[in-house]
Amino acid sequence: MNDTEPGYSPGLKGVVAGQTSLASIDGDRGELRYRGYPIGELVERGSYASVAELLWTGEWAPDATLACAAPPPEVIEVLRRLPPSANAMDALRTAASAYGAVSGTSWPPTVEQARAITAFAPSALAAFSRLRDGQEPIDPDPSLGLAAGFLYQLSGELPDDASARALDAYFIVGAEHGFNASTFTARVIISTRSDIASAVAGAIGALKGPRHGGAPSEVVDQIHQIGSVDRAEEWIRGALARGERLMGFGHRVYRAYDPRAAALRSVAESLSSVAEWLGKAVAVEEIALRLLAEWKPDYPIKTNVEYYAAAVLQGVGLAPSLFPATFALARHAGWTAHCLEEADADMLIRPDVRYVGPAERHLPD
Ligand code: COA
Repeated sequence: MNDTEPGYSPGLKGVVAGQTSLASIDGDRGELRYRGYPIGELVERGSYASVAELLWTGEWAPDATLACAAPPPEVIEVLRRLPPSANAMDALRTAASAYGAVSGTSWPPTVEQARAITAFAPSALAAFSRLRDGQEPIDPDPSLGLAAGFLYQLSGELPDDASARALDAYFIVGAEHGFNASTFTARVIISTRSDIASAVAGAIGALKGPRHGGAPSEVVDQIHQIGSVDRAEEWIRGALARGERLMGFGHRVYRAYDPRAAALRSVAESLSSVAEWLGKAVAVEEIALRLLAEWKPDYPIKTNVEYYAAAVLQGVGLAPSLFPATFALARHAGWTAHCLEEADADMLIRPDVRYVGPAERHLPD
């Protein structure tokens, strides 16, 4: 097989597989915009509710609100039956699937369906987190935004303003990112005229892998393993020599610094709870970037969103086991906005594949 033959690109690298008016990404310049608005501006002046509305409807509604919604009792029953050892991403995916079965979502997806499943997901994840700890779920507080409401339903305590704002900013930054693997999965599912809950469940499955959404807790492990900054260079050189990947670095699209990492770094700086960890992470990052540039001089590998997501998520008091699923909560706005866009296009996604198996042959007599 010749990987350079026209029409075939392993991993679909560089292939334009659709069109969108949601996010534009300039990987060389490190720029990300949602419907034209730079991500930094949206983080500074928007809320997750306003950004989600922007993605779903195309309208900028700065006063939009979106509170967590109570999960149907059947979904809570399903979550109750999962083993406490279940992975939180598996629990969230199961919740999305059960939600679809109970609410009977069907094609075509609507903005109301998008709002409803996005508002449902944080409550479902918080309920799973409490159930696995032997605690009962907490009803949502309709006066709180999605991020604050999620924190409230996890602990039963109202979050402080800095934590609520920091998690809301994280949700904005994680809301949408073009044709990443989970979004593409969601679009493939909707393109068959399946329903929005199936698309979200499939997307969560795709996001579960460490090459996509599983890195922030691994960033925490990595910084923990490195121990002190003076050991960082030796540790990183060893990891690269063994062919390991540094978590929180590298991206399929960005060759420049990921703008989401920059936005989250300044959000993390507002959280005093994580100041010491952040100081270490910043020092390790500098060493890692220098060594990655030496390691792959022709392929720029820069800090990605997961690196500083780890700081924000720890800073608001989330357990590392909830990090990937919390990213999934944020991405609901993007996934569901892509479902709406894909349904408008209404064209089955079904590429060709090159057959590389044996030529025709026959079973032995
Ligand atoms: N650490 C060390 N080497 C890395 C690296 C990293 N974080 N990211 C990429 N590379 C190297 C690969 O080993 C590969 O080297 P090789 O050609 O000698 O085999 C080369 O760069 C290209 O890797 P590839 O996987 O083809 O590139 P990509 O740009 O598609 O990779 C990721 C994107 C995200 C899969 C990759 O950077 C990665 O695994 N990062 C770590 C996990 C992570 O942080 N994920 C969250 C993403 S938001």
